[in-house]
Amino acid sequence: MRCMSVSLASTHATNTAMLGLGAYRPARVVSNDEVCEKIDSSDEWIQTRSGIKNRHFAEPEESIVEMGVIAAQRALDAAGMTADQIDTVLVASSSTFTQVPHSAPQIAVRLGIDKPGSFDLVAGCAGFCHGLAVASDLVKAGSARNILLIGGDQMSLGLDMTDRGSAFIFGDGAGAVVVGPSEEAKIGPVVWGSDGEQGAAIRQEPSWSDIVISEDYRRPALQMEGPSVFRWAAFSMGKVARQILAASNVTVDDLDAFIPHQANQRITEVIVHSLKLPETVAVADDIVDTANTSAGSIPLAMEKMLRTGQAKPGDLALLIGFGSGLTYAGQLVRLPRLSAE
Ligand code: UT7
Repeated sequence: MRCMSVSLASTHATNTAMLGLGAYRPARVVSNDEVCEKIDSSDEWIQTRSGIKNRHFAEPEESIVEMGVIAAQRALDAAGMTADQIDTVLVASSSTFTQVPHSAPQIAVRLGIDKPGSFDLVAGCAGFCHGLAVASDLVKAGSARNILLIGGDQMSLGLDMTDRGSAFIFGDGAGAVVVGPSEEAKIGPVVWGSDGEQGAAIRQEPSWSDIVISEDYRRPALQMEGPSVFRWAAFSMGKVARQILAASNVTVDDLDAFIPHQANQRITEVIVHSLKLPETVAVADDIVDTANTSAGSIPLAMEKMLRTGQAKPGDLALLIGFGSGLTYAGQLVRLPRLSAE
């Protein structure tokens, strides 16, 4: 007779937190003037239209794996944890140029993490916030204990540097956090969604299937219908931000920091205006010297705010990522500790 008391219930955590944060920006700084050597534009136009002054470009061999290993080790240091305490590695990136094998197990083995669950997640510039929701829910469900989440992109390898609609917007970099159990709830519920009808507004061209069919070995590059994406982001993300606040019964007066995806300073300003954010709320401005690093942008912007004192660990921050797909995701968080690096 089978025992009826068998239970599949897991030992789960009620609450989760980002326990530590690490970041990596490649050493090479690329100015607007350098970008303008290949496009008909100017430093002044780029700064006025996007807020960007500089970006970091990785060396070709500085892949998402290389950047992710450094950011992840710094996140572990910040959390005061070691590799043996991690059981799952999750990488959010759209620029893993070697898709097989994927990045997470490669990063895990380089860090000496023994046989973790390891997978990659693709959600464009909204990748980090998607990953944070998945990591938090895996810990709450008891499926994982401590997760290393890496968000980053090596955009420079996939850009057409002669395309003045996209060449100046992007940069490279990665951030990482450890997500684990916590006495207090420090990661709020996610609000996410997508509008696939507008999917072609940010795309790879030619696609891999077009290359195979046509035997056109032209190097694929990112193409973006900038004004359409701008309109979608600037005018829809205020509403999404209000849904995130409502999901945790929080008002803008409770916030310490606003950390949106660093896509364009003007998009940030429209959302700030639409939310009527009080002046006491610190607003991320990492786009100025880092540009848009896609899935790296939110952890890198968090890192800058903590490093420069614009915000401090424990502060209540509103995160919101948006981009290709078109997809978005965001949540309220308590900011984590930063590594000494
Ligand atoms: O991370 C994923 C999500 N991505 C985004 O959220 C990006 C959203 N889009 C944007 O940030 C903006 O659309 C851009 C910064 C990419 C472009 O700014 P814009 O204000 O939307 O410019 P536009 O494309 O509407 O062009 C305005 C003018 C045009 O000239 P006319 O027709 O007014 O004479 C363009 O030909 O600026 C011209 N232009 C440029 N001029 C100098 C377009 N690109 C450039 C350029 N340099 N690079």
